[in-house]
Amino acid sequence: MTILAKLEDIFPSIDSIPSQFQLTHCLDQKEYLVKGNLEHWEGETEESFSPIYLKTEQGLIQTKIGQFPLLNQEAALSALEAAVKAYDNGRGKWPTMSVGQRIECLQDFAYRMKEKRSLVVTLLMWEIGKSYKDSCKEFDRTVDYIEDTIDALKNLDRVSSRFEISQGVIGQIRRAPLGVVLSMGPANYPLNETFTTLIPALIMGNTVIVKAPRPGVLLNYPLLEAFKDSFPPGVVNTIYGKGRTITPPLMESGKIDALAFIGTSRAANNLKKQHPKSHRLRSILGLEAKNPGIVLPHADLDLTVSECILGTLSYNGQRCTAIKIIFVHRAVIEPFLEKFTAAVSRLKFGMPWEENVFLTPIAEPGKPQYLQELVEDAQHHGAQVINEGGGMINKTFFYPAILYPVNDKMKIYSVEQFGPVVPIVPFDDIETPINYLVQSDYGQQVSIFGQNTQAIAQLVDPLVNQVCRVNLNSQCQRGPDTFPFTGRKDSAEGTLSVHDALRAFSIRTLVAAKELTLNKRLITDIVREHQSNFLSTDFIL
Ligand code: G3H
Repeated sequence: MTILAKLEDIFPSIDSIPSQFQLTHCLDQKEYLVKGNLEHWEGETEESFSPIYLKTEQGLIQTKIGQFPLLNQEAALSALEAAVKAYDNGRGKWPTMSVGQRIECLQDFAYRMKEKRSLVVTLLMWEIGKSYKDSCKEFDRTVDYIEDTIDALKNLDRVSSRFEISQGVIGQIRRAPLGVVLSMGPANYPLNETFTTLIPALIMGNTVIVKAPRPGVLLNYPLLEAFKDSFPPGVVNTIYGKGRTITPPLMESGKIDALAFIGTSRAANNLKKQHPKSHRLRSILGLEAKNPGIVLPHADLDLTVSECILGTLSYNGQRCTAIKIIFVHRAVIEPFLEKFTAAVSRLKFGMPWEENVFLTPIAEPGKPQYLQELVEDAQHHGAQVINEGGGMINKTFFYPAILYPVNDKMKIYSVEQFGPVVPIVPFDDIETPINYLVQSDYGQQVSIFGQNTQAIAQLVDPLVNQVCRVNLNSQCQRGPDTFPFTGRKDSAEGTLSVHDALRAFSIRTLVAAKELTLNKRLITDIVREHQSNFLSTDFIL
């Protein structure tokens, strides 16, 4: 079957979908979690449509999968009030609880969460078009992240469960919460990336308001009960709706102590500016990126192509860590193009539940048209779409377009496409890709492909100062989650990893006392009689 024929027939009829992947009913969500209650919302709602169309006698119809509340400012402020009250200026039940008790709550949550795996995975497929394999991976990786976070906190707590004596001063140093955290995850990893800030924020004793992304609201819905039942009232609160409506009053209140946001730098800057005392706001941001791949002469082209395919087109290129432009040395450009286009033509495209499917429909409204404009702009400035079917669209599906030769006059050279368009730039002088990174607004990662030790070594040193991860003969990626994930310039603020995130959402605070007989007696008594959660030598195994 030709690509065109397959593309025209890409969407299924309801009967052809295997029963285990069918959504049995529309998820009409009317609830949001505030003060430990699932409040019923009577106001405006937004209908949620899947990127998956269904073949019917009336033609292709986009599948409605549910609806969710479009909260107003008053409802958003009630969530803020609940989080502020639960934190109670650091005197609430949650921020003063022992680390061991907080860990128990989180373990309880993880247990309840795992029971919802099948429904959340199905919703990931229908709501954001992620393949079954990647949806399972997103869920399981998130559960692992929770478990790894608990282990990392136990380690941190063990180290802090001792007194230090220096220059005649006794001290016990621990990490304490910051206050109220606003956590906003992205639509491409609506579960995993939301949880990689939510979980460390919670376990360190902060109270949280979670704004789920659109799309990405419905797949979090099955977890609301688990949040309600696992944490004290007001510790986790959820809000939904238009960011422009519901986030300004939260930020303007000055009561948000930490902003965890994954999205664009423009939105992040707007949010930060709304806070009346910016010095009081800690920001942990994951923003745009335009990670280049650099293919050197003598690179192992089979390995390079397979990593570049994963890097550019996994989940249709909708990853902040995707390789978004490839610089190829002119000495290997012809064989690289040949192998890369052949590899793209072998990628299976279709519905998220199809076995080995790699390319799927795109959830972001208007995205195929945006990508088409980028392709047309590149063609106008001299590039060609070099692969069969490149750039063809059927509703929400966009077949990958490989653009060659790309130059700096084209928008695709510098903007983040966040989709299946692969720009390829030929180069003669290694200064071309190095300068690209120096001049870029972004500084997340780079991938270098080559086999010559000296050439690689000479690139590593300048590039580690442009980005925050240099990948050798490997695609750009965030994982493993124990590695630091961050970026320079417009790509990030703060560093996340299982270990770093605990630090990002806490502040060091200590009790210190001159080594007087009185102080020694006081500390010894408090510790011996377990009178304080902070001043304590108890540790968790
Ligand atoms: O969208 C950005 C994600 O953090 C990427 O994570 O590299 O594991 O796909 P990943």
